[in-house]
Amino acid sequence: MKIFLDTASLKEIREGASLGVVDGVTTNPSLLAKESGDPEEILLEICKTVDGPISAEVVATDAEGMVREGRHWAAVHPNIVVKCPCTVDGLKATKILTADGHRVNMTLIFSPTQALLSAKAGARFVSPFVGRLDDIATPGMDLVRDIVEIFGNYDFDCEVLAASLRHPMHVVEAARMGAHIGTMPMGVLASLLKHPLTDIGLKRFLDDWEKAKKEAGAKAGR
Ligand code: G3P
Repeated sequence: MKIFLDTASLKEIREGASLGVVDGVTTNPSLLAKESGDPEEILLEICKTVDGPISAEVVATDAEGMVREGRHWAAVHPNIVVKCPCTVDGLKATKILTADGHRVNMTLIFSPTQALLSAKAGARFVSPFVGRLDDIATPGMDLVRDIVEIFGNYDFDCEVLAASLRHPMHVVEAARMGAHIGTMPMGVLASLLKHPLTDIGLKRFLDDWEKAKKEAGAKAGR
């Protein structure tokens, strides 16, 4: 499973990129609004930091406006993927943008039918929002499983990008379901590596090593 960072924070993206396991970045208007600075400059800097798909979302709600904004974002850097919301206009814009040769990530996916139509319109990524379904007592991971199963029956050139992943178990489940990509905040990525037994085990190895060195030194009369 590819790992994307779900943030517009350059500090976090640089930190994540230094781990060597980050394949792309997803942003959205809420994430960009949290950062200070020009969104376009931030996106360009993200593209220079991570060599992979970088999602930049349109804010227009009509197809014409989405296409105009999408073409603008796509011109910022070749790594930019245009993110469109899964609405009637988003679907129309996706068809036009993909015919242009731009990659589209269809976002705010909450049903398998939305994912199916997005793939048919040419979207290269669909983003089911797992955590937001969990928030309304609907198992978000079931949606990921359904979309992966449906896409497995056909040959769409469209990857399932599990989004709104809030904790490590979401990542584990998305990988078990066969999601092609999981996008997550930096805190969740950091938590994937953490294990108390690793820390305890390492401390024991180092303590034993120091003890053995001291004993060897004492025996040699040093
Ligand atoms: O990638 C989608 C993500 O930004 C939404 O996450 O936690 O706000 O539901 P969340």
